[in-house]
Amino acid sequence: MRPLTLVLALARRGALGKDGGLPWRIPEDLRHFREVTRGHAVIMGRRTWDEVKKPLPERRNLVVSRDGALRLPGAVVCASLDEALRVARETDPEPCVIGGAELYRLALPLATRVELTEIDRDVDADTFFELDRTGFVETSRRPGETEGVSFVSLRREGA
Ligand SMILES: NC(=O)c1ccc[n+]([C@@H]2O[C@H](COP(=O)([O-])OP(=O)(O)OC[C@H]3O[C@@H](n4cnc5c(N)ncnc54)[C@H](OP(=O)(O)O)[C@@H]3O)[C@@H](O)[C@H]2O)c1
Repeated sequence: MRPLTLVLALARRGALGKDGGLPWRIPEDLRHFREVTRGHAVIMGRRTWDEVKKPLPERRNLVVSRDGALRLPGAVVCASLDEALRVARETDPEPCVIGGAELYRLALPLATRVELTEIDRDVDADTFFELDRTGFVETSRRPGETEGVSFVSLRREGA
């Protein structure tokens, strides 16, 4: 398998989104996200792009959409995850998929690493992702400074 990292934050029940944004505000996790993804090609679904509507700096931004007419400033629009992976790997051997739930579902079978922020909270959410860890081993776990937050690294066995 070729390297591919999923970067995601999940609260209890796999909650990850609310009203097009994040259901929490955790600056420590935003810093962690920046550190993990900096310098990489980042692949996101069009709805995740709509959250910020501008490219994440210091990263090559790729947005997956079925809308062939879509043009976005500072981002490459791709018609499928496969196309996004092909374009991303032209410049980055280890791209990251950064959400949301639809993209995580498509990308998990292809992922060799998962950088997971576990948030031990019940949150009000409308978007969920069940992270199936089958085939992955936990290689590190670090408690954050924020109550209930842990930074967890998973690697696919044999990858
Ligand atoms: N907690 C986290 O770590 C995290 C990370 C990122 C995002 N989020 C949250 O997740 C939520 C958004 O997630 P979401 O699942 O609703 O949307 P999403 O995965 O960000 O984007 C979905 C869009 O991607 C495109 N798409 C999906 N499958 C496709 C395919 N097979 N081929 C081509 N295009 C495809 C479609 O765009 P078109 O409609 O344009 O065709 C679809 O509407 C937000 O609340 C966001 O804040 C959370």
